[in-house]
Amino acid sequence: MSALLHIRSVLPESRIEAAIVLGSGLSGLTGLLTDTTTIPYHELEGFPGQSGRSHGVSGHGSDLVIGTMSGRRVAILTGREHYYENGNAAAMRPALETLAALGAKSLILTNSAGSLDPNIRPGDLMLLSDHINYAGMNPLIGEPGDRRFVNMVDCYDPGLRQKSIGISQSLGISLKEGIYLWYSGPSFETVAEIQMAIRLGANAVGMSTVPETIIARMLGLKVWACSAITNMGAGLSDENISHEHTKAMAVQGAEKLTKIIPALVEAL
Ligand code: HPA
Repeated sequence: MSALLHIRSVLPESRIEAAIVLGSGLSGLTGLLTDTTTIPYHELEGFPGQSGRSHGVSGHGSDLVIGTMSGRRVAILTGREHYYENGNAAAMRPALETLAALGAKSLILTNSAGSLDPNIRPGDLMLLSDHINYAGMNPLIGEPGDRRFVNMVDCYDPGLRQKSIGISQSLGISLKEGIYLWYSGPSFETVAEIQMAIRLGANAVGMSTVPETIIARMLGLKVWACSAITNMGAGLSDENISHEHTKAMAVQGAEKLTKIIPALVEAL
């Protein structure tokens, strides 16, 4: 049975308005939903973690949770599949197509990232204004027809960005804004690669989000994306970069996202 049919069989009233993808250390945000239905990914054909060699990523959940946030029906993907898990840039496509088929018009993407910018510090949130696809992989390779030629200008919806800036100001939360560079991972960057990324004009570097944005734009979803900054890029500070550190530091970003996202969903 397709993921869509399975979801509809578990939850006949499964129409949603928006979908949210949670990054490393951010899975606590599911607590924001009421009236929830949880379906594990392994019951959903094509959802993350089902291709041969992918084993999930610690700090990431593996459930689809549908519930109510700020009076709207939304779906949360508690974890994602990254390109580095299996070499598949389109790994998130079946899940995103399913969310669009359930009615989602907006997609909220969260991730953890390393900062390249002295004004954007660990614990800060950085709204994505644009991205650089440095990994060079594209999830639409092999897609037939003209819809693959997706226009990526304003791929991070200017209206949603503006709304979220207003929301964070009224909540007294500082929200930085910048360009996210997608590095395939799973190894972290070298010091020289971080220097290159700075010269390319990026403000943060991370291992996700970009392929999801490309797929979502092809599907016609409005995208809002935000990085929880967990560290300075390699060589920019004395701290030791590790996945453990990423998960621990993401908690600070999660606390702020817990306040911003429900207000953004209300304002969609
Ligand atoms: N590099 C890439 N991805 C990351 C980092 C980083 O420094 N921190 C958290 N995710």
